[in-house]
Amino acid sequence: MKKINAIITAVGGYVPDYVLSNKELEKLVDTTDEWIQTRTGIKERRILKGEGRGVSEMCVEAVKQLLEKRKISPEEIDMIIVGTITSDYTFPSASNLICDMLGAKNAWGYDVSAACSGFLYSLATAAQFIETGRYKKVIVVGADKMSSIIDYTDRSTCIIFGDGAGAVLLEPSEEQLGIRDFILRSDGAGRKYLFQKAGGSRYPASIETVERREHFVFQDGQPVFKAAVKGMADVSAEILERNKLTGNDVAWLVPHQANKRIIDATAERMGVSSEKVMMNIERYGNTTAGTIPLLLWDYEKRLKKGDNLIISAFGGGFTWGSIFLKWAYNS
Ligand code: UT7
Repeated sequence: MKKINAIITAVGGYVPDYVLSNKELEKLVDTTDEWIQTRTGIKERRILKGEGRGVSEMCVEAVKQLLEKRKISPEEIDMIIVGTITSDYTFPSASNLICDMLGAKNAWGYDVSAACSGFLYSLATAAQFIETGRYKKVIVVGADKMSSIIDYTDRSTCIIFGDGAGAVLLEPSEEQLGIRDFILRSDGAGRKYLFQKAGGSRYPASIETVERREHFVFQDGQPVFKAAVKGMADVSAEILERNKLTGNDVAWLVPHQANKRIIDATAERMGVSSEKVMMNIERYGNTTAGTIPLLLWDYEKRLKKGDNLIISAFGGGFTWGSIFLKWAYNS
């Protein structure tokens, strides 16, 4: 019997309409458009405005688009895995809500909490359900409503993050395509540099935690920057070597969009030229688990069957990793 591979057969994406520009941020904190662009590459990001609106809303839009493209009904979905750190509620999971909102009556799923590596962790996990032959249609979503946990008086974080959601459909194939290899890593010792202190079981919400602004993202940028450059470059180089590939064999590098300088350093280390690096950080900023599927969404029309893609991410935890994927269709 031939090995079953997990291939991506459709992509969907959604970003909210509201555009938060660098100019608008200049009015909120002591920063400049020039500083933000030169230090991060970001020009604007999208924000989901309005009360009572959660991440699941964006996920549903992305998944609906994907279903329309692939011409399948919600009932055909077996499973939905969602990479997110900004689920609508502590429980139930965003996946649980999305199945209901879509009418995906035969599906189940769960959320994966791995910050900016959330989509990578979820994609690798979802592939297992396809490769074993257990399921035929698994959706992987990467999404975050970062504006719900960002302090818009903190210039070191509010300039970076934005909201958005992307989704892919995984299906089985006997062709040598799809997810070929992955390397995933985790180091919880990095948590002190990038985390949300309160709201979990260690520091539940209280008047004091709110007053201390502990429900917002805390980031010590420099150590995260250094670890991200090393982590993303190391793991991307390792996956190339292990699969006997060089930078020339890579059609596209699909890097997490945290900072243009981190992306450039990763590409350089891999020997991948800049025209082969997917980039949309200037328009969406860092959407955490959303960046990678949003890149695939933006670049879908330029991808060709058989293209070698290296997906890489680094994020809070620390969590990081790389996936080697062969694209499976022409748009
Ligand atoms: O996606 C999850 C993982 N996250 C990341 O990968 C993010 C990694 N870190 C970064 O991208 C960068 O560290 C930041 C973009 C967050 C910050 O850039 P940086 O070049 O590392 O700046 P810095 O923190 O070293 O600060 C340099 C200076 C400081 O001023 P002094 O002390 O030199 O006078 C900061 O106070 O820039 C100042 N600064 C700002 N100035 C204008 C910090 N934020 C701002 C700002 N506008 N928004």
